[in-house]
Amino acid sequence: MLKGAAAALVLVATSGHVWPGEARVAQAGAAPVVRLYDDNPSHLWNRLHAALFVRVADGREYGTDRVDPLLWIGSKHLLQGASHERAVQLIHEFLDNHGETRVRDPLKRAMLQRDLWTVFDWLQGTHGNFAQPRLSEEAVRRGVEDLSAAIGAAIGRLALSPGQIDALPDNYAAAARAGLVPADLFSPRGPWVSVGRDDGPVAVNHVGDLGVGRNSVFLVFIKLPGGRDATLRYVQRLHAYSGPFRTASGYPSPDIPQFPAGTEVALVRRALLIDSDGRIVATRIVEQVQHRLYREIPPWSPQELDLGAGRGQEVDDVMLSRAALFAGHAGGLVSMDAAGPLFLTFSDQGLDAFEMKASDPSFEGGRRRTLGMNASEARKLCATCHVAPGVYSFNSYLPFRLLSPEARPSRLSEISMADAVRFAVQHKPQRAEWRALQTLMRR
Ligand code: HEC
Repeated sequence: MLKGAAAALVLVATSGHVWPGEARVAQAGAAPVVRLYDDNPSHLWNRLHAALFVRVADGREYGTDRVDPLLWIGSKHLLQGASHERAVQLIHEFLDNHGETRVRDPLKRAMLQRDLWTVFDWLQGTHGNFAQPRLSEEAVRRGVEDLSAAIGAAIGRLALSPGQIDALPDNYAAAARAGLVPADLFSPRGPWVSVGRDDGPVAVNHVGDLGVGRNSVFLVFIKLPGGRDATLRYVQRLHAYSGPFRTASGYPSPDIPQFPAGTEVALVRRALLIDSDGRIVATRIVEQVQHRLYREIPPWSPQELDLGAGRGQEVDDVMLSRAALFAGHAGGLVSMDAAGPLFLTFSDQGLDAFEMKASDPSFEGGRRRTLGMNASEARKLCATCHVAPGVYSFNSYLPFRLLSPEARPSRLSEISMADAVRFAVQHKPQRAEWRALQTLMRR
């Protein structure tokens, strides 16, 4: 993957582009400039995307080509004020003028639907933890309702037929050819073993209320240095383990089967879409690939579990850029080293990085003063959630923030990718935001 990161930098240097999320200098008083869907920034789709994705601060534009919008549970942005008004106006312009007919390319239609769906799910999610002055419940409700109704209708209009969805490009294969992601990750007999649960989606936190992937499918892979058979044996041992999960003092038990140094884990996120029959459909479009290699695995000790901070792990994150995807570059995937300022929106307690003020009680010191992290800061952030040695930071197995007393490990076993996808697709209709969308889409 590191080889891939270097390749991405070369790509950026030779093509003259910096793909996603670059913090472009904003023109005072002017709307952000987006050229993702058309060369002309005043194209309706570009203006709509700008209204939903771009955040402006300190004279710079952020988030333009970020996989997820820069929205948190605590964001007032889009719920009120000028940003809300602008978003409502543009989405109505889209509906009134049959904006869905302005672009024919199925890949672009797929991306706009997926992006609108992401914003929709955020609208329908929890809101709170605002910076001062707080938004009243009534203001939140109004903001959510106005925007949800129009976005829901637009999502329905952008739907592709099942055949068109099936024909969307395999962007992972293109990224693998460019050396950005492992070519053998999806090989059914290859060294990587897909693991999952038999009672629901594997990445419970990523698809849950604080997750950013409520309209994505996640796949988890593990690869031991001894090859596929060694990996399968390890997964079976972990599944069969029935000893204690924690010690008397509350630490995860040293008896949990550990994997050896050299083990790698990967998390793949793929887009879901809604087809013209109103059904949720899994696509092959990979939105993100996260990867961790355990170079060394320090021995179990309470100190290491508390303070390990990801010691011995090498981490990497490769994410989708619309600009690169539409231009056909490396399947649209870009290494975190080339991705411009990085932000954490996943599981981030909801604080809006753009609205927080140093005087807010929940302001977390310097971290929020700089807008956006560079890749090395973002790598350190991975370790804050993947803290402990080996299996103790394999979060799909051991519950996140592993010291909670009621937490139980997930019973992981080998699972075909097809089954993992099926479980994830079946899970979505159980969520409240999907029921809300179904009603609004038909309007
Ligand atoms: C806010 C906490 C958090 C941060 C930050 C975080 N992760 Fe994770 N990660 C998780 C959780 C939780 C899971 C388990 C899946 C689930 O429950 O959704 C996970 C799963 C994974 C997996 C699948 C294997 C496993 O451990 O389950 C990989 C690979 C991964 N993350 C890599 C990364 C990388 C690389 C970064 C940094 C760019 C990162 N993560 C940052 C919480 C986090």
